[in-house]
Amino acid sequence: MATDSSCDAPFYKPASQFFPAHSDVALTYDDVTLATLYSNVLPKDTNLDTRLHDGLQLHVPIVSADMDTVTESPMAIAMARAGGLGLIHCNMPERQQLSEVSRVKNNVHGLIQDPIKVHAGQTVGEVLAMIEDREFGFSTFPVVDENNILIGLLPGNSVRARYASKKVSEAMIPRTGVLTVHERELGKDPIARADRFFSENLGFHKLLVVGDGDKLRGLFTLSDIERILNERGSHLKPARDSQFRLLCGASIVGVRKPDGTLDKDRIIGHVSALVERGCDVVAVSTAHGFSQGVGDTVILIRDAFPDLPILAGNVTSGAGVDFLADAGASIVKVGQGPGSICTTRVVAGVGIPQLTALYVSSITAAKKGVSIIADGGITKSGDIVKALTLSNAVICGSLLAGCPEAPGQIMEINGKLYKQYRGMGSHAAMSAGSAARYGHTQKDSTRKIAAEGVEALKEVSPPVEIVLTQLIGGVQSGLGYLGAANLAEHRQKARYIRVSTAGQRESAPHDIIEVKASK
Ligand code: XMP
Repeated sequence: MATDSSCDAPFYKPASQFFPAHSDVALTYDDVTLATLYSNVLPKDTNLDTRLHDGLQLHVPIVSADMDTVTESPMAIAMARAGGLGLIHCNMPERQQLSEVSRVKNNVHGLIQDPIKVHAGQTVGEVLAMIEDREFGFSTFPVVDENNILIGLLPGNSVRARYASKKVSEAMIPRTGVLTVHERELGKDPIARADRFFSENLGFHKLLVVGDGDKLRGLFTLSDIERILNERGSHLKPARDSQFRLLCGASIVGVRKPDGTLDKDRIIGHVSALVERGCDVVAVSTAHGFSQGVGDTVILIRDAFPDLPILAGNVTSGAGVDFLADAGASIVKVGQGPGSICTTRVVAGVGIPQLTALYVSSITAAKKGVSIIADGGITKSGDIVKALTLSNAVICGSLLAGCPEAPGQIMEINGKLYKQYRGMGSHAAMSAGSAARYGHTQKDSTRKIAAEGVEALKEVSPPVEIVLTQLIGGVQSGLGYLGAANLAEHRQKARYIRVSTAGQRESAPHDIIEVKASK
């Protein structure tokens, strides 16, 4: 049976013909569409694994942006649990960023790492007041001393008003009567270990985990374990390192001394601390990656850490990729001004629409053996499908900023719920620390310099797992239409054609009254 037709060839072209034929116009996602090809691949059977660098293998080619309204540890945990990666932003003190990375690397699914504890000297009445004040829905607490060493368990049935004047030390089950596991015993499947414990110990609803010296390391609750086991059918496979820990990235800036030179000791000191905490990739994220400062920062880190995956950017040209690859970057971020909150193109008049930027960058990336990531401008799964024809992964900000795992409070405006989402080049973010990313000093950012991003709101969205499941479903459909079993085949098989304005209109729902928008 014929599956190829030469009459299609003049219309549906491979990247190597299509983009050079459009070298006088910069194209982005909505400017093109991908041709359908013969397929014997079902979407559900497609494999989205992507290798960004040695030891940095994702099961889902989606990375959450290193922005202060997108990625801190809850987002990075959720991303890695779903098979992707989170880049912890650096608009925070260095120590805090280290703790954020540790939270991701030490995350054990279902383990509450920092449980609420009480002390022997407190009264039951004080514990009751704390429960009321902080609106806890539980009343069983580990009891620890001032060194976090476990000394007992205060059971919920002792936390009653009639015992209010009793000391916790009188009401608690002493250490000898408390069943625990050592963190070493959790092994590769802590949920199975906790499940076994609850099956073997009738009536126990909490399992305390201790480390060396009997220090409290966390606790599992029976209800969490049962919920997780019920959800275990999840098709999402976590992205882990060789020690079975979740993958985590962190961004850094090339901090400078007062005389304007790079503060080499501070940069290396912080990257060393990140590496010690298990950080898998360091991102040197700036608006202009094809610049001396970024090149020097990458060289500095590469010299000190020959094997560390370094992600650097942003660029939009082959020369930019060449420059960062030569400096020692393993992965290059492509994108200047496509982001939903970016105003770089408006303010500075520079930047290249994403597909053309990706094509140009991908040629050099292939020659240099580095990966590229499409950063910004992704508004729907179809954009990811197109981006992945020329890149190894995408970075999303706006699509994730409304998730509960993104930093920030939910606010209600006219009955609708929103979360804040702001550009790292907005005045507010630069004053909070991101000025260097845009080539300004912290002091500059308080003056009237031109912001390159806006402060915005995103309607709240479901948890990351649900958002990613939707996106992955769309990407798998895309691969299915191209008959591509994996991302390498997808890149090789993609055939492009431009769409007219009428074609774009035809591509989205039209001439109907939409009663339920798909998100
Ligand atoms: P999306 O479209 O996913 O884009 O919201 C996220 C990406 O946008 C970049 N970014 C900015 N670019 N001014 C810019 O020109 C800014 O203030 C700004 N903040 C973030 C960044 O690459 C991010 O991953």
